[in-house]
Amino acid sequence: MAKVYVFDHPLIQHKITYIRDKNTGTKEFRELVDEVATLMMFEITRDMPLEEVDVETPVRVAKSNVLAGKKLGIVPILRAGIGMVDGILNLIPAAKVGHVGLYRDPKTLLPVEYYVKLPPDVENRDFIVVDPMLATGGSAVAAIDSLKKRGAKHIKFMCLIAAPEGVEAMQKAHPDVDMFIAGLDEKLDEKGYIVPGLGDAGDRLFGTK
Ligand code: PRP
Ligand code: URA
Repeated sequence: MAKVYVFDHPLIQHKITYIRDKNTGTKEFRELVDEVATLMMFEITRDMPLEEVDVETPVRVAKSNVLAGKKLGIVPILRAGIGMVDGILNLIPAAKVGHVGLYRDPKTLLPVEYYVKLPPDVENRDFIVVDPMLATGGSAVAAIDSLKKRGAKHIKFMCLIAAPEGVEAMQKAHPDVDMFIAGLDEKLDEKGYIVPGLGDAGDRLFGTK
């Protein structure tokens, strides 16, 4: 069964409050999403493998650790996932970035795929799929299906706000994919929006409506 981590770090929780606030404008919303993505990534990378090297300090040679160079791929779900990429790359600037383009059909709420482009070496890469919202779970499940179909074996999923329905859908479809969440909310409304949520993440990030 996939593990679900809800981040209770005070800085993350503080910033999530302002992300939720309907009075937060586009510029500030974007900056906050970027900052929370960085903070979440810091926690998610806690288990990255290290290797010991010798380093010459001004005093003597020391044994010290560097990242073991595991290949990492960040995959935002278009379009709102884009808002989290720069925050992640602040910490891991060398990570490759793939894209999965999906939108929710407003009537059926089912995801429609329109674009997929992944970095090479899919089988040997650790992927983190990112999207601010996990609502019905349809988009995340489909994006991860798409990655697995192309050979991906190690996948994590990171989002800002999740509904219990989405978490359950992910656990059913992808029990091997751990989920990292900043806010686990109450429910979905009749239009598939997360309650209380933050509204439409894509529209708030890009100033569209
Ligand atoms: C939003 C959000 C997720 C999806 C979540 O995207 O960014 O991708 O909905 O809903 P689900 O869990 O029910 O699938 P949307 O389809 O609105 O597209 P956008 O990112 O282009 O705005
Ligand atoms: N997508 C969003 O952007 N917000 C929601 O509440 C649900 C899906």
